Amino acid sequence: MALTSAVKGFVKLSLEEKIKILTEFSDLNEEDLNLLKKYRELPDFLELENNIGPFKIATNFLVNGKDYFVPMELEEPSVVAAASRIAKLVRVEGGFKGEYIDSKMIGQLQLLDVKNTKEAKENLLKEKEEILKIANESNKIIFELGGGARDLEVREVETERGKNLILHLIVDTLDAMGANVVNTMLEAITPIATEITGGRYCLRIISNFADKRIVSVTGKIKIENIAIGKYSGEEVVNGILDAYALAKTDIYRASTHNKGCMNGMDAVTLATGNDWRAIEAGVHSYAARNKYTSITELKVEGGYLEGKIEIPMAIASIGGATNSKKARLALKILRVKNAKELGIVVASVGLANNLGALSALGSEGIQKGHMRIHKEFVKLGK
Ligand code: MEV
Repeated sequence: MALTSAVKGFVKLSLEEKIKILTEFSDLNEEDLNLLKKYRELPDFLELENNIGPFKIATNFLVNGKDYFVPMELEEPSVVAAASRIAKLVRVEGGFKGEYIDSKMIGQLQLLDVKNTKEAKENLLKEKEEILKIANESNKIIFELGGGARDLEVREVETERGKNLILHLIVDTLDAMGANVVNTMLEAITPIATEITGGRYCLRIISNFADKRIVSVTGKIKIENIAIGKYSGEEVVNGILDAYALAKTDIYRASTHNKGCMNGMDAVTLATGNDWRAIEAGVHSYAARNKYTSITELKVEGGYLEGKIEIPMAIASIGGATNSKKARLALKILRVKNAKELGIVVASVGLANNLGALSALGSEGIQKGHMRIHKEFVKLGK
């Protein structure tokens, strides 16, 4: 019989049964099976750089005057080392400073076959209070906690299949990421929206281009402090500025530059049980809102290298997988009180990783650090 991955009811099988199927499918041997069982206990690449339980821990983070150990979940120890190195240099200048510029999610309701879109748009806006009321009734908990649907925007969008009327529901989802809250609200307001517009609906889904949930973080480093090996602080900073200038104008570089920021940010969002794919999508679409460019801004002023990161950060401290044991542990290590605080820490990590990567790239290159870690890995494996 041909091997297949389409096993009916696979999800309901016991772990043993699943492993048995996988063993046959992928021809796993005794060694593979032992590895599967206890891979968490094995000396591994994952073990390097402050590995504690499922996390690697970044140190030195001082953000808005509060100290943080930052749990990360990723395979690459140099990301943790780089973030900790930069956080150490930033903390002596007072640490990272951050805030949310705005903190609302957007849900999209796609309306089609609307005869007079201009008139329908006006009518939707006229009924705004009623629509918001219906949205808020669909999720009383978030409303009673002080969040909820706050506003409506209506856009006319021309597509290859004709004109769409797109209703944006603007929702304060408080400490939740918001997808469930927003999607439920969108489904609840669909009947009134179709009645008002005379159209039919298609999509009712959150937008990951969360340009109303923006976090902004700054941090500075004294130029002389960022020296690396034989490279003076000034030389390193020159390298950083050259690298940054290229990221601002060249998409091939901007993509990698931004990936360097995401390295650490994804790792913290993963550790805390957050939807890191949503955050990635938000960050890259925000980077491309005009023309794809760097998500950080870097400059030299008064003897300091100053950095800023401004990105959508739809992160949660409650709900979904943030309730898993591992994520609760990560949140406890972080000592964060709410989603905004977490988002500011995550963005600080992103800025630290960017400065870490550029300072190495703009001086001795990144391979030296990588090779040191690689050697440690090989040693561990023996
Ligand atoms: C590698 O994971 C990340 C870097 O490529 C980031 C960058 O080039 O800025 C080093």
